[in-house]
Amino acid sequence: MSNGLDDVVAAETVLSHVDGEAGRLIVRGHDLEELAGRVPFEEVTAMLWDGLVPGVSADPRVRFGEARERAFRTLSPLARNLSVLTPVEGMRLLLAALPDADEDPAFLAVGASAVAAAMAIRGAKGLPPVAPDPSAGHAADLLRMIKGAPADEGGAKGLDTYLVTVIDHGLNASTFTARVVASTDAGLLSSVVAGLCALKGPLHGGAPGPVLDMLDAIGAADNAESWLDGAMARGERLMGFGHRIYRVRDPRADVLKVAAAKLKNESNRIAFAEAVEHAALRVLQRRKPGRRLDTNVEFYTAILLDSLGVPREGFTPLFGAGRTAGWVAHALEQEKAGRIIRPQSRYVGPWPAQAA
Ligand code: ACO
Repeated sequence: MSNGLDDVVAAETVLSHVDGEAGRLIVRGHDLEELAGRVPFEEVTAMLWDGLVPGVSADPRVRFGEARERAFRTLSPLARNLSVLTPVEGMRLLLAALPDADEDPAFLAVGASAVAAAMAIRGAKGLPPVAPDPSAGHAADLLRMIKGAPADEGGAKGLDTYLVTVIDHGLNASTFTARVVASTDAGLLSSVVAGLCALKGPLHGGAPGPVLDMLDAIGAADNAESWLDGAMARGERLMGFGHRIYRVRDPRADVLKVAAAKLKNESNRIAFAEAVEHAALRVLQRRKPGRRLDTNVEFYTAILLDSLGVPREGFTPLFGAGRTAGWVAHALEQEKAGRIIRPQSRYVGPWPAQAA
């Protein structure tokens, strides 16, 4: 028995493969580096959904634009409830309000995730929602709906790179959750809500906000090693490091570091982040020798999204906005597999007393 299901194979998939020893992520036959920053999110999603969503490759940009508009019509009346919720809680509320009986639930799920993420980020600050522009690219429109002003080309490209980078990643905790829900035939939108609930934990998709808190607390490169050492002495985990599968550097970390470096005026921040990263790897090596802990996706996610002007509480919703495409693909693949996921537990509690 394995408490964390390590090494248990629970699904066959054509969608993505994580090679933890080589530090390689393959998405439908392509290395991540071939896709992120090169192929727009809408097209990568269409590729991911090929064979699962009928007619997906016919102009996905237009269909995502329509889906964002459709989602906005359903979700905007709920915006007034968002000011008492954190952005990820607000996104959870909004996605839970979508009807299961939609004629195009795959597109609606991704369109709604973008709309809900932006609406929840603004709503948490008491700001009104911004309606989507269906003619814009998905990432550009998402950034516009967050900020309330058109995104510049570099910013839109940076967010597009991010969405593609996190689109799918094997049978991670939230994807497994989405597949379990799909296996009961509960419907695609329920799988997506469940995926988001699993994603929000700090051990999974909730880490990048705390990465930024950590960088703020460290303050200057000179202070990094002693601060990080102190944190580990207190038994804390260093956010943005370690991974269940990767035993080397997470390839997504490099993709996002490159994307962040392309943004204007970010060279000082990247240099600081690099100094902290190197110090963290030295501290981890010293305090957890032989554990092979390295940088994960969340470390440079924090730098990139902060540079794009996204508030740190909005990082997990944006992760969800990208990963929804993957959850949808896995849920559809699971539905095709057609068997409810139902593992066993081993009972270690007391047995009823024998009748005398
Ligand atoms: N900082 C300090 N120590 C760590 C860290 C870390 N970031 N990660 C793992 N360790 C230590 C553990 O304490 C443990 O040591 P021990 O056996 O001496 O007690 C050892 O390394 C192995 O750790 P596990 O908990 O077995 O690793 P697991 O595979 O269960 O956890 C996880 C993976 C949850 C990602 C973990 O590395 C972690 O908590 N990292 C920090 C949070 C984070 O960055 N999460 C984002 C992950 S990426 C993603 O989900 C998108």
